[in-house]
Amino acid sequence: MNRVALVSGANRGIGFEIARQLAKLGNDVVLGTRDFARGKTAAKAIASKNPNVIATELDVTNETDVEKVVRMVRSDFGRLDILVNNAAILIDESDLPSETDLKIARATLETNLLGPWSLCKAFIPIMKQNNYGRIVNVSSGAGAFEGIAENLYAPAYSLSKSSLNALTTMFARELRGTNVLVNAACPGWVRTDMGGRSAQRSVEDGADTAVWLATLPDDGPSGGFFRDRKRIEW
Ligand SMILES: NC(=O)c1ccc[n+]([C@@H]2O[C@H](COP(=O)([O-])OP(=O)(O)OC[C@H]3O[C@@H](n4cnc5c(N)ncnc54)[C@H](OP(=O)(O)O)[C@@H]3O)[C@@H](O)[C@H]2O)c1
Repeated sequence: MNRVALVSGANRGIGFEIARQLAKLGNDVVLGTRDFARGKTAAKAIASKNPNVIATELDVTNETDVEKVVRMVRSDFGRLDILVNNAAILIDESDLPSETDLKIARATLETNLLGPWSLCKAFIPIMKQNNYGRIVNVSSGAGAFEGIAENLYAPAYSLSKSSLNALTTMFARELRGTNVLVNAACPGWVRTDMGGRSAQRSVEDGADTAVWLATLPDDGPSGGFFRDRKRIEW
Protein backbone atom coordinates (compact mmCIF):
# COMPACT_ATOMS: atom_id res chain seq x y z
CA MET A 1 0.00 0.00 0.00
CA ASN A 2 1.32 3.41 -0.85
CA ARG A 3 1.68 5.75 2.12
CA VAL A 4 1.69 9.52 2.45
CA ALA A 5 4.96 10.93 3.76
CA LEU A 6 6.19 14.38 4.75
CA VAL A 7 9.94 15.02 4.89
CA SER A 8 11.17 18.33 6.32
CA GLY A 9 14.26 20.00 4.87
CA ALA A 10 13.87 17.89 1.73
CA ASN A 11 15.31 20.24 -0.90
CA ARG A 12 18.90 19.01 -0.45
CA GLY A 13 21.19 16.62 1.36
CA ILE A 14 19.89 13.65 3.32
CA GLY A 15 16.30 14.94 3.37
CA PHE A 16 16.18 15.05 -0.43
CA GLU A 17 17.53 11.51 -0.59
CA ILE A 18 15.04 10.21 2.02
CA ALA A 19 12.23 11.77 -0.04
CA ARG A 20 13.63 10.27 -3.25
CA GLN A 21 13.87 6.78 -1.74
CA LEU A 22 10.37 6.97 -0.21
CA ALA A 23 8.96 8.07 -3.58
CA LYS A 24 10.82 5.26 -5.34
CA LEU A 25 9.10 2.80 -3.00
CA GLY A 26 5.78 4.09 -4.35
CA ASN A 27 4.79 6.43 -1.54
CA ASP A 28 3.24 9.87 -2.03
CA VAL A 29 5.84 12.30 -0.76
CA VAL A 30 5.45 15.90 0.35
CA LEU A 31 8.75 17.77 0.38
CA GLY A 32 8.70 20.38 3.13
CA THR A 33 11.14 23.16 2.24
CA ARG A 34 11.50 26.64 3.64
CA ASP A 35 12.23 28.05 0.17
CA PHE A 36 9.33 27.05 -2.07
CA ALA A 37 11.25 27.62 -5.32
CA ARG A 38 14.01 25.25 -4.19
CA GLY A 39 11.35 22.80 -3.06
CA LYS A 40 9.69 22.83 -6.47
CA THR A 41 13.03 22.23 -8.19
CA ALA A 42 13.74 19.30 -5.86
CA ALA A 43 10.25 17.84 -6.35
CA LYS A 44 10.67 18.13 -10.13
CA ALA A 45 13.99 16.29 -9.97
CA ILE A 46 12.38 13.38 -8.09
CA ALA A 47 9.09 13.49 -9.98
CA SER A 48 10.78 12.87 -13.34
CA LYS A 49 11.00 9.22 -12.22
CA ASN A 50 8.32 9.13 -9.49
CA PRO A 51 5.40 11.46 -10.23
CA ASN A 52 3.88 11.15 -6.74
CA VAL A 53 5.90 14.04 -5.27
CA ILE A 54 4.95 17.61 -4.38
CA ALA A 55 6.67 20.48 -2.59
CA THR A 56 5.20 22.66 0.11
CA GLU A 57 6.57 25.69 1.92
CA LEU A 58 7.58 24.66 5.43
CA ASP A 59 9.92 26.52 7.71
CA VAL A 60 9.79 24.22 10.74
CA THR A 61 10.19 27.19 13.09
CA ASN A 62 7.09 28.87 11.69
CA GLU A 63 3.84 27.75 13.36
CA THR A 64 1.76 29.28 10.56
CA ASP A 65 3.63 27.17 7.97
CA VAL A 66 3.03 24.05 10.09
CA GLU A 67 -0.71 24.81 10.34
CA LYS A 68 -0.90 25.42 6.55
CA VAL A 69 0.84 22.11 5.80
CA VAL A 70 -1.56 20.24 8.11
CA ARG A 71 -4.52 21.80 6.26
CA MET A 72 -3.01 20.96 2.86
CA VAL A 73 -2.22 17.36 3.83
CA ARG A 74 -5.73 16.87 5.26
CA SER A 75 -7.46 18.26 2.17
CA ASP A 76 -5.17 16.74 -0.51
CA PHE A 77 -4.50 13.32 1.05
CA GLY A 78 -6.82 12.92 4.03
CA ARG A 79 -4.01 11.38 6.07
CA LEU A 80 -0.31 11.42 6.90
CA ASP A 81 1.38 8.07 7.47
CA ILE A 82 5.07 9.02 7.65
CA LEU A 83 6.72 12.07 9.17
CA VAL A 84 10.47 12.46 8.79
CA ASN A 85 11.83 15.30 10.91
CA ASN A 86 15.03 15.87 8.95
CA ALA A 87 15.48 19.66 8.80
CA ALA A 88 18.27 20.92 11.03
CA ILE A 89 21.00 23.51 11.32
CA LEU A 90 24.56 23.30 12.58
CA ILE A 91 25.76 26.85 13.20
CA ASP A 92 27.98 26.51 16.28
CA GLU A 93 31.08 28.71 16.15
CA SER A 94 32.84 27.15 19.13
CA ASP A 95 33.13 23.67 20.62
CA LEU A 96 33.11 25.13 24.13
CA PRO A 97 29.79 25.74 25.89
CA SER A 98 31.34 28.64 27.80
CA GLU A 99 32.08 30.39 24.48
CA THR A 100 28.77 29.61 22.80
CA ASP A 101 26.60 32.57 21.91
CA LEU A 102 23.16 31.79 23.33
CA LYS A 103 21.58 33.32 20.22
CA ILE A 104 23.10 30.40 18.33
CA ALA A 105 21.84 27.96 20.96
CA ARG A 106 18.30 29.41 20.81
CA ALA A 107 18.15 29.32 17.01
CA THR A 108 19.49 25.77 16.96
CA LEU A 109 17.01 24.48 19.54
CA GLU A 110 14.19 26.28 17.75
CA THR A 111 14.93 24.44 14.48
CA ASN A 112 16.32 21.08 15.60
CA LEU A 113 14.15 20.42 18.66
CA LEU A 114 11.04 22.62 18.64
CA GLY A 115 10.53 22.17 14.87
CA PRO A 116 10.17 18.37 15.17
CA TRP A 117 8.12 18.77 18.35
CA SER A 118 5.70 21.11 16.59
CA LEU A 119 5.32 18.76 13.59
CA CYS A 120 4.79 15.74 15.87
CA LYS A 121 2.09 17.61 17.78
CA ALA A 122 0.44 18.67 14.51
CA PHE A 123 0.37 15.25 12.84
CA ILE A 124 0.04 12.70 15.66
CA PRO A 125 -3.74 13.28 16.02
CA ILE A 126 -4.18 12.39 12.30
CA MET A 127 -1.97 9.32 12.69
CA LYS A 128 -3.83 8.14 15.78
CA GLN A 129 -7.14 8.63 13.98
CA ASN A 130 -5.93 6.32 11.17
CA ASN A 131 -4.19 3.95 13.58
CA TYR A 132 -1.01 4.20 11.51
CA GLY A 133 2.07 6.37 11.82
CA ARG A 134 5.82 6.21 11.47
CA ILE A 135 7.79 9.14 12.86
CA VAL A 136 11.52 9.36 12.24
CA ASN A 137 13.55 12.02 14.00
CA VAL A 138 16.82 12.45 12.16
CA SER A 139 19.26 12.83 15.02
CA SER A 140 23.02 12.48 15.30
CA GLY A 141 25.68 10.55 17.15
CA ALA A 142 26.74 14.04 18.30
CA GLY A 143 23.70 13.91 20.59
CA ALA A 144 24.68 10.61 22.23
CA PHE A 145 25.53 11.13 25.90
CA GLU A 146 28.63 8.95 25.81
CA GLY A 147 30.13 11.11 23.06
CA ILE A 148 29.19 14.35 24.76
CA ALA A 149 30.97 13.31 27.95
CA GLU A 150 34.18 12.49 26.03
CA ASN A 151 34.43 14.99 23.16
CA LEU A 152 33.45 18.63 23.15
CA TYR A 153 31.76 19.31 19.80
CA ALA A 154 29.25 21.94 18.66
CA PRO A 155 27.41 22.32 22.00
CA ALA A 156 24.20 23.85 20.67
CA TYR A 157 23.86 21.26 17.90
CA SER A 158 24.80 18.32 20.16
CA LEU A 159 22.37 19.43 22.86
CA SER A 160 19.60 19.88 20.29
CA LYS A 161 20.10 16.28 19.17
CA SER A 162 20.27 14.78 22.71
CA SER A 163 17.06 16.69 23.46
CA LEU A 164 15.52 15.38 20.23
CA ASN A 165 16.46 11.87 21.37
CA ALA A 166 14.76 12.46 24.71
CA LEU A 167 11.69 13.81 22.92
CA THR A 168 11.66 10.68 20.76
CA THR A 169 11.42 8.45 23.84
CA MET A 170 8.69 10.64 25.35
CA PHE A 171 6.50 10.46 22.23
CA ALA A 172 7.16 6.73 21.93
CA ARG A 173 6.03 6.31 25.55
CA GLU A 174 2.93 8.43 25.00
CA LEU A 175 2.03 6.43 21.88
CA ARG A 176 2.70 2.99 23.33
CA GLY A 177 -0.17 0.65 22.41
CA THR A 178 -0.98 2.59 19.21
CA ASN A 179 0.31 1.82 15.73
CA VAL A 180 2.32 5.06 15.72
CA LEU A 181 6.01 4.17 16.02
CA VAL A 182 8.53 6.89 16.88
CA ASN A 183 12.28 6.41 16.48
CA ALA A 184 15.49 8.41 16.08
CA ALA A 185 18.03 7.76 13.32
CA CYS A 186 21.69 8.70 13.09
CA PRO A 187 22.72 8.87 9.42
CA GLY A 188 26.46 8.67 10.20
CA TRP A 189 28.90 11.20 8.79
CA VAL A 190 27.50 12.06 5.36
CA ARG A 191 28.77 14.12 2.40
CA THR A 192 26.32 17.05 2.39
CA ASP A 193 26.59 20.79 2.91
CA MET A 194 26.44 20.06 6.65
CA GLY A 195 28.74 17.02 6.68
CA GLY A 196 31.31 18.45 4.27
CA ARG A 197 33.24 16.80 1.45
CA SER A 198 35.50 14.62 3.59
CA ALA A 199 32.61 12.69 5.13
CA GLN A 200 32.78 8.95 4.56
CA ARG A 201 29.19 8.27 3.60
CA SER A 202 27.05 8.97 0.55
CA VAL A 203 23.56 10.44 0.95
CA GLU A 204 22.16 7.07 -0.17
CA ASP A 205 23.83 5.37 2.83
CA GLY A 206 22.89 8.26 5.14
CA ALA A 207 19.21 8.02 4.19
CA ASP A 208 18.93 4.25 4.49
CA THR A 209 18.16 3.88 8.22
CA ALA A 210 15.61 6.71 8.18
CA VAL A 211 13.80 5.13 5.22
CA TRP A 212 13.86 1.75 6.96
CA LEU A 213 12.34 3.28 10.13
CA ALA A 214 9.79 5.17 8.01
CA THR A 215 8.54 1.91 6.53
CA LEU A 216 8.61 -0.37 9.61
CA PRO A 217 6.02 -3.12 9.88
CA ASP A 218 3.41 -2.86 12.64
CA ASP A 219 5.50 -5.01 14.99
CA GLY A 220 8.59 -2.81 14.47
CA PRO A 221 10.42 -1.05 17.30
CA SER A 222 9.42 2.27 18.85
CA GLY A 223 11.44 4.55 21.11
CA GLY A 224 14.86 3.49 19.79
CA PHE A 225 17.95 5.21 18.38
CA PHE A 226 19.36 3.50 15.26
CA ARG A 227 22.33 3.70 12.92
CA ASP A 228 22.80 1.27 10.03
CA ARG A 229 19.49 -0.31 11.05
CA LYS A 230 21.00 -1.31 14.42
CA ARG A 231 20.15 0.04 17.86
CA ILE A 232 22.79 2.39 19.31
CA GLU A 233 23.25 3.91 22.77
CA TRP A 234 21.48 7.19 23.54
N1 LIG B 1 25.58 15.30 7.18
C1 LIG B 1 25.97 14.64 8.27
O1 LIG B 1 27.12 14.16 8.38
C2 LIG B 1 25.00 14.41 9.41
C3 LIG B 1 25.44 13.67 10.52
C4 LIG B 1 24.56 13.42 11.55
C5 LIG B 1 23.26 13.90 11.47
N2 LIG B 1 22.86 14.63 10.40
C6 LIG B 1 21.46 15.10 10.38
O2 LIG B 1 20.86 14.76 9.14
C7 LIG B 1 19.86 15.73 8.80
C8 LIG B 1 20.11 16.26 7.41
O3 LIG B 1 21.41 16.82 7.38
P1 LIG B 1 22.14 17.24 6.02
O4 LIG B 1 23.55 16.84 6.18
O5 LIG B 1 21.36 16.81 4.85
O6 LIG B 1 22.06 18.84 6.18
P2 LIG B 1 22.09 20.00 5.08
O7 LIG B 1 22.73 19.53 3.85
O8 LIG B 1 22.64 21.18 5.78
O9 LIG B 1 20.52 20.24 4.80
C9 LIG B 1 19.70 20.71 5.82
C10 LIG B 1 18.30 20.85 5.30
O10 LIG B 1 17.50 21.36 6.38
C11 LIG B 1 16.79 22.49 5.90
N3 LIG B 1 16.45 23.41 6.98
C12 LIG B 1 17.25 24.04 7.86
N4 LIG B 1 16.53 24.82 8.66
C13 LIG B 1 15.24 24.67 8.30
C14 LIG B 1 14.02 25.21 8.75
N5 LIG B 1 13.94 26.10 9.75
N6 LIG B 1 12.86 24.80 8.14
C15 LIG B 1 12.90 23.92 7.14
N7 LIG B 1 14.03 23.40 6.64
C16 LIG B 1 15.18 23.78 7.22
C17 LIG B 1 17.70 23.11 4.86
O11 LIG B 1 16.95 23.98 4.05
P3 LIG B 1 17.64 25.24 3.24
O12 LIG B 1 18.17 24.66 1.96
O13 LIG B 1 16.50 26.18 3.06
O14 LIG B 1 18.72 25.78 4.11
C18 LIG B 1 18.17 21.84 4.15
O15 LIG B 1 17.17 21.40 3.27
C19 LIG B 1 19.93 16.80 9.88
O16 LIG B 1 18.95 16.54 10.87
C20 LIG B 1 21.32 16.61 10.46
O17 LIG B 1 21.41 17.08 11.78
C21 LIG B 1 23.70 14.90 9.37
